Amino acid sequence: MISIPAPLNRLPMRILLTGSSGWLGRHLAPLLRAQGHDVTGLDVAPGAHTDIIGSVADRALIDRLFAEHHFEAVIHAGALHKPDIARHPHQAFIDVNTAGTLCLLEAAVAAGASRFVFTSTTSLMISSAIREGRGDRAVWIDETLAPLEPRNVYGITKLAAEQLCRLVHAEHGLPVIILRTSRFFPEDDDTHQTLSGENMKANELLHRRLTVEDAAQGHLVALERAPEIGFGTFILSAPTPFVPADAAALKADAAAVIARYFPDAAALYAQQGWTLPATIDRVYDAGLAERVLGFRCPTDFAAMLAALRVGGEPPVAHDAGYVSPMVSRSSPVRG
Ligand SMILES: NC(=O)c1ccc[n+]([C@@H]2O[C@H](COP(=O)([O-])OP(=O)(O)OC[C@H]3O[C@@H](n4cnc5c(N)ncnc54)[C@H](O)[C@@H]3O)[C@@H](O)[C@H]2O)c1
Repeated sequence: MISIPAPLNRLPMRILLTGSSGWLGRHLAPLLRAQGHDVTGLDVAPGAHTDIIGSVADRALIDRLFAEHHFEAVIHAGALHKPDIARHPHQAFIDVNTAGTLCLLEAAVAAGASRFVFTSTTSLMISSAIREGRGDRAVWIDETLAPLEPRNVYGITKLAAEQLCRLVHAEHGLPVIILRTSRFFPEDDDTHQTLSGENMKANELLHRRLTVEDAAQGHLVALERAPEIGFGTFILSAPTPFVPADAAALKADAAAVIARYFPDAAALYAQQGWTLPATIDRVYDAGLAERVLGFRCPTDFAAMLAALRVGGEPPVAHDAGYVSPMVSRSSPVRG
């Protein structure tokens, strides 16, 4: 099992990291550099880890960067994502998320790169029916869920980008790992605001969140394993304590199920003034990543409770005011 990889003892790689100014990028870039890699950060917005300001969809720029830097690997984390739906037209999502991914894939093939890691999203597995929690049980979500009917342009363009990854791998053999990551954003949820941000993030670690640090570690493992795996799509999320047999009870009375697994959770939550979820309508199962990719997020709900037990800080970053650097281009970028 690979969880926290030791620095590489093989030759460092020249890596193009897109979205290097973003929340994931600013955690991933230093991790890659600490492994000895030569990282070039590309983003449309400036940031402490961004070397080139430009778009993934600018083919001339991408070709020039490949020619100058001879990238051996691409980690493609730059994107318009769900909060951007309110700010950008659908066409911008197609241009950045779908056409931009194709641009990078084709450049990687042309340059003979050895691997490509694509940051995707569990959101593309969420149909309107799942989102509205219409069923009488929690939906158990793994990579076999079908048909996929993303409910918004973010999910649709990420799914199209995943399909382009699959096609380019099939046609050219470029090793590609797709990481369908669940939530790791630090800001408050843009649709549900009944609980405090910290409380909600703690609850989500049970079934639909991971820490940004674990997301970065997962990317590092994917980078390492891509040539050996060839092509793979993996959900990246904190390991859930639940099993599929819990699905009906999770929908009816989640707090009772949680009490079975974590008898002191309610008391620890009470000390924080937090509330356990009354109902859970979906569970992301990251088991395939554990079995095939060899990565299990170290930070889970049990780790959260362990921190609370000793009066420590919850291990999930919360920053109610975080906005993507694209939005705050004129404000100082946090490192
Ligand atoms: N934050 C989450 O909870 C979450 C969950 C699942 C998947 N993801 C995915 O993780 C990746 C990173 O997201 P994040 O949370 O760090 O978001 P973020 O908004 O903080 O970072 C995304 C970065 O991409 C950059 N970007 C946007 N358009 C670009 C373009 N045309 N060319 C180059 N860069 C561009 C933005 O400027 C930004 O810095 C995204 O692909 C997102 O879809 C995020």
